Amino acid sequence: MVLIGVIATAIGIPLALIIPWFPAEGSIQAGNIRTLYHVLIIATVPIFVLVETVVLFSVWKFRMRPGQEEMDGPPIHGNTRLEVVWTAVPAILIVSLCTYAYTVLRANEANKQGAMTVNVTTRQFAFQFGYPQANGKQILSPVLYLPVHQPIVFKLRSYDVVHSFFVPSFSEKIDAVPGIVTTLRVTPSALGTYPVECTELCGAGHSLMRSTARVVSPAAFEQWLRAQPTNAPPPIGSPPPNVNEAVPGYSPGGSSSPGGSSGASSSAGASSTSAAAGQAVFTGDAGCSGCHTLAAASATGTVGPNLDIRLRADCAGAASKPIRGATLQQCIRTAITKPYAYLPSGYSAGIMPSNFAQRLTSDQIEALVNFLAGAAK
Ligand code: CUA
Repeated sequence: MVLIGVIATAIGIPLALIIPWFPAEGSIQAGNIRTLYHVLIIATVPIFVLVETVVLFSVWKFRMRPGQEEMDGPPIHGNTRLEVVWTAVPAILIVSLCTYAYTVLRANEANKQGAMTVNVTTRQFAFQFGYPQANGKQILSPVLYLPVHQPIVFKLRSYDVVHSFFVPSFSEKIDAVPGIVTTLRVTPSALGTYPVECTELCGAGHSLMRSTARVVSPAAFEQWLRAQPTNAPPPIGSPPPNVNEAVPGYSPGGSSSPGGSSGASSSAGASSTSAAAGQAVFTGDAGCSGCHTLAAASATGTVGPNLDIRLRADCAGAASKPIRGATLQQCIRTAITKPYAYLPSGYSAGIMPSNFAQRLTSDQIEALVNFLAGAAK
């Protein structure tokens, strides 16, 4: 049994360690968590295979044979030494592993010298990141920019319900709870673009509540920060070109295909209401492709109306025109900002987020209108 256990352990540990359990590693904390996880695997695989070996061996060796139906084993009155051993060994193991895990989590949450504060404000269904400035004002952004190797303290707040702020590549997550400020510490350790997700079921648009974390060099971060207006509404514009870029080794459920939109989007400025910018909003910030089908955006969602089939046809309908406007552009604008003013047949109110007028800038909405008017068949 011991020999079988040793062989199974020798096979099991490398097998368990070879599995890529974690997405691309983006923070010092993620490295600590990964090491902790690997230690737990190395400690638990031998126990698991040894227990299973004993169980399977006993089932085979001491199984009931024909004619033994009425028989019983010899009475057992306990074995003190055995009981002490099987209580003490697991107790020592569990206490050691818990102590180690506690130490790692404490270190991850420890206050780091020179940490920079980033305010994370959540609401249905968007994140906003605030960078407090020396003059008491704050720079706001819908995308999380972080300088690499800089310890960060996130202060989380919620305007409405419980949300959660999760960056898988940082291996750190915490709830944003209305009425209190929660704190999370992360030190980004690798340049890259990582998904930010809400992981608390927070309403109909929960699955669309996503953002992007961009870890950049300190110089690039300073440059980005200086380019932002203070106390302005979120300077969303068109999202960064690689906002939908897949992180190596990480697949968030395969919702949107990379390359559908990202490459073509321009970097804001005069073209922020262009159809190309609208496509980036469609697949990016607004999250339309999660629910709608639209060939022009490689979107295949089935929650809401199929825009290839329903958009132009419904807007041309006699029932829609008095409510949503006579032109296709007016109709699309109303459908985005007041989705329940007119409900396409077969769809009910309460599914499509009704706060796009607040969530998106007017430029983003115009860009969406231009994009959809051109894409509607
Ligand atoms: Cu916010 Cu889910």
